Amino acid sequence: MSDDWNIRTKLVHEGTRRSQYNEVSEAIFMTQGFVYDSAEAAEARFIESGDDEFIYARYGNPTVAMFERRIAALEGAEDAFATASGMAAVNGALISLLKASDHVVAARALFGSCLYILEEILPRYGVDVTFVDGTDLDQWQAALRPDTKAVFFETIANPTLEVIDVNAVAALARGVGALVIIDNVFATPVFSRAISQGADVVVYSATKHIDGQGRALGGVILGSREFIRKTVEPFMKHTGGSMSPFTAWIMLKGLETIDLRVRAQAASAQAISEALYGADKLSKVIYPGHAEHPQNALVKRQMGKGGTVVALEVEGGKPAAFRFLNALKIILMSNNLGDAKSIITHPATTTHQRLSDEQRAALGISPGLLRLSVGIEDTDDLISDLKQALAAV
Ligand SMILES: Cc1ncc(COP(=O)(O)O)c(C=O)c1O
Repeated sequence: MSDDWNIRTKLVHEGTRRSQYNEVSEAIFMTQGFVYDSAEAAEARFIESGDDEFIYARYGNPTVAMFERRIAALEGAEDAFATASGMAAVNGALISLLKASDHVVAARALFGSCLYILEEILPRYGVDVTFVDGTDLDQWQAALRPDTKAVFFETIANPTLEVIDVNAVAALARGVGALVIIDNVFATPVFSRAISQGADVVVYSATKHIDGQGRALGGVILGSREFIRKTVEPFMKHTGGSMSPFTAWIMLKGLETIDLRVRAQAASAQAISEALYGADKLSKVIYPGHAEHPQNALVKRQMGKGGTVVALEVEGGKPAAFRFLNALKIILMSNNLGDAKSIITHPATTTHQRLSDEQRAALGISPGLLRLSVGIEDTDDLISDLKQALAAV
């Protein structure tokens, strides 16, 4: 593969390993193990395996390795480790690094399962976690300590779409030698420039834009070769969170088209946010790419585009939001995002139901708030669907 290739070319070809049949489409190596030619070869491989030598699918597999190479090329990371789900990636990145008495600073606005790891699991093992408002640099500065081992945040908060300044938080974290670990799902790997902006480790739920067609759970941890191979891999391969070869094949096929899909989705999301901005019965339209988003300048600098998710707040709280949802004809009610199909969620009663009313209010998750993940359907059809549903409210 060539370093000179542009991203679209890498997304189609990077990391390909062909078998003796010279297949065009990537092969699925659906095997848990690999046969050694001799006892000596087995011994040698357990001491050190070469780039094209595998031992056991929990440790690595040719199809999984193709996916890891391709997503690392997209992100501009030295290396990657593929995981069974996005949460296996978040968990693996944090737990492989941390030990009792370490300190972590995390943004408070997190996906519920990420919050569970930081709030419930890490403290149980003696890791001290301080939560901050991720958009407030003074709070990051005040929370960082000489023993802070890592900072963790989602670059764009789910579902209220506030944006955290990767460059600025990374500069503060570097001051105390803390590793910057980010969950970059909402920014998408297409618009991410996080590693060049100072992130050390980038984590994705591949279930979202990487698959992009709602078929499989998966995840990936990206970072330096040293971190991935010396810290993440030993933890993941011994604790069982690796990606299956079949899933890796789905994700490889997803990567071939991710740039086309996500750019189309973001263009539609932009158009939808503009078409609905100021509409009757909507008290808020939140889209990071919209000129009126309070952090639009940061979004342009950090990602270029606003991503594929729009948040809408329907006037009249939960009853009005439910009338709106029940009137939609094309947009599906479900809770994934990044899919080719447009999907809408009512966070207060689904993804963020576990939180108390006070916690939801603090995060801006009002009873009328909806999270719309824009798919690849015709933009005008989506706008018509949203407008007719608004009329039904
Ligand atoms: C921001 C964020 N991080 C992590 C995850 C977890 O991903 P998965 O469902 O693939 O485990 C999700 C998805 O639900 C998410 O939205």
